[in-house]
Formats: sequence, C-alpha cells, structure tokens
Amino acid sequence: MRICCFGKDGLLSTELQAWLPELNPLSLNFLSKSDCDITDKDAVNQVFNTYCPTHVINAAAYTKVDDCETDASTANLVNGFALDHLIDACNQYGAALIHFSTDYVFNGTKETPYEEDDLPIPINAYGASKLIAETAIRSRLIEHYILRVQWVYGPAKPNFVSTILRLAKEKKEVHIVNDQFGSPTSTTSISKAVVNLILNKPEYGTYHFRTLKHTSWYDFAVYFLEKCKMNVAVIPVSSSEFKTKAKRPKNGVLNIGKWIYSDLYTPPTWENDVLNYLKKEKLI
Ligand SMILES: NC(=O)c1ccc[n+]([C@@H]2O[C@H](COP(=O)([O-])OP(=O)(O)OC[C@H]3O[C@@H](n4cnc5c(N)ncnc54)[C@H](OP(=O)(O)O)[C@@H]3O)[C@@H](O)[C@H]2O)c1
Repeated sequence: MRICCFGKDGLLSTELQAWLPELNPLSLNFLSKSDCDITDKDAVNQVFNTYCPTHVINAAAYTKVDDCETDASTANLVNGFALDHLIDACNQYGAALIHFSTDYVFNGTKETPYEEDDLPIPINAYGASKLIAETAIRSRLIEHYILRVQWVYGPAKPNFVSTILRLAKEKKEVHIVNDQFGSPTSTTSISKAVVNLILNKPEYGTYHFRTLKHTSWYDFAVYFLEKCKMNVAVIPVSSSEFKTKAKRPKNGVLNIGKWIYSDLYTPPTWENDVLNYLKKEKLI
C-alpha cells in the first residue's frame, strides 16, 4: 500500500501522521499546501506520477466556516471543484480516495440523527462547497470513502476546547450556544477510524463517524471546564443570540449505525474522548 495524504499541516492531517504508520505502508507521503495545492491539476498529477498512491487521503480543505460566507468562490474551489483533479487522478492510477465531509451538508431540521442517504440541504456556503465534492466523488469514482465527521478537536491547532479553556482563564463568564447538537470528536478517534477503514475495507461509499452519544456545545463546555476545575460562569445562549456569519444546523447528530454494523472501530463516548484529550494535553 502506498498512501498520499493532502492537507499536511491541518488539524486532522497532523494527527494522521501519528497513526497511519500503523498500516505499515510501502510509502507514506503527506503533502502540505505548498507541496501541492489541490486546486492545481498539474500539481496533483505530479504527486500521483511521483508516488503512484494506492490510497489517497484528502484532508485538505478551506475550513473557516464564517469566512466561506464572504469567499464562497474559494470555498467552492478548494472544497468542491478541486476534487475533480483528485477523482481523475484516482481513476487513472486505480487509487482509493478517503475524503472527509461534514454534518454541515444537512440543514439540521430533522428531529432524529441524520443517515448517510438523507437529503443534504446545506444552509451555509461551507456546507454547500463540501456537497459539491461529495456529489462529484459519488458520481465519478467507485473506489471512495466519504467520511462525514463533526465537531472536530485535536492538539495540532486551536479548537473549541482550547479556545474555551483560554477564554475561561481570561474572563469571568463565557457564553456558549445551547441549541446546536452533535458529537464532539477528537482527531485521535478519527485517525483510528481511518486506519480501521483502510484495514477492514468495508463496502465503498459514504459513512458517518462520530463519538458515541451526543450533546450541545454548552453541555460539552460545562463538562470539560468542570474536569479542568475552571472557575468560570458558563452562560447558555441560543443560536439567535450568538450571531455568526454562517448559519449552523441545530441538529447535526449523525447516525453511525452503518459504521457500527460494518464492524468497524467502535468510538468512545464524547466524554471519554475529551477526557483522553485533556489527559494527553496534561490539562487534567
Ligand atoms: N474541523 C472540524 O470541525 C471539521 C468538521 C467536519 C468536517 N471536517 C473536515 O475534515 C477535514 C479536515 O479538516 P481540518 O479541521 O483538519 O482542517 P484544517 O485544520 O483547516 O486543515 C486543512 C488543511 O488544508 C490546507 N489547504 C487549504 N487549501 C488547500 C489547497 N488548496 N491545497 C492543499 N491544501 C490546502 C490548509 O492549509 P492552510 O491552513 O495553509 O490554508 C490546512 O493545512 C476537512 O475536509 C474538513 O472539511 C472538519
């Protein structure tokens, strides 16, 4: 197996660098944006020509959700149309593509967890750009896994957990949204899932992956702030009070029945996942 992973310096890709060696690949190459801009067809072809990958992991993306609202063309290019280059090259070289997507392809109005084949109706530019890629991959590349993940945090970059812990040190109170629901998932859990997916080779297609159980941003913050013994008032606020440029789906909960029934890695609960993160980061 020869693996190429795009988006080298990102939150998820940085963690994948610690886990993918477990697969004992013949070659493993991580490409940063300066090594290969995925919107540049020639650069993508050059990578395939050099490394002849059997597995391609696309962790490159434009992930600033609010900025995507004002720069939808970059979002569509990086998160959407660039996939055409990866799809073409994967087809040419017979490589399987592992691509990450998001719960933000859904509008969040469903009352139960979203299943893989529920109709995606994005309510922000980021979700719309990610849907362009999903649609292209599904229609033009058989050997693919689209892994929809959500609420990702990890040590490589500032994230919800590190940001709230920083604010808790600086302020007497923090305001956290209490009407959006999902499952906070560490980059460690996602990396284990990717290793497991490549090893176990379930049927190609789209899979949801997240930790077990779900919560709100507010309850998530209360949980880890307490574990870190932070003395700060946590004030619940509604999405309508906490204005952001991009709308977020209220219900982002992903049904992971397909993942579990495919006999893949069983994720921890979101509580255990964040406890492991806090311990590893020596925050508790
Ligand atoms: N983080 C989350 O909560 C979350 C939730 C759901 C899904 N996802 C998905 O998970 C995947 C990984 O996300 P992440 O959080 O690791 O993102 P990230 O930290 O923003 O990393 C993305 C990486 O891609 C690079 N990149 C941007 N444009 C590129 C281009 N044109 N060519 C090559 N590389 C480029 C970025 O470099 P620069 O920083 O230099 O631009 C960055 O290093 C993405 O597909 C994302 O949509 C993430």
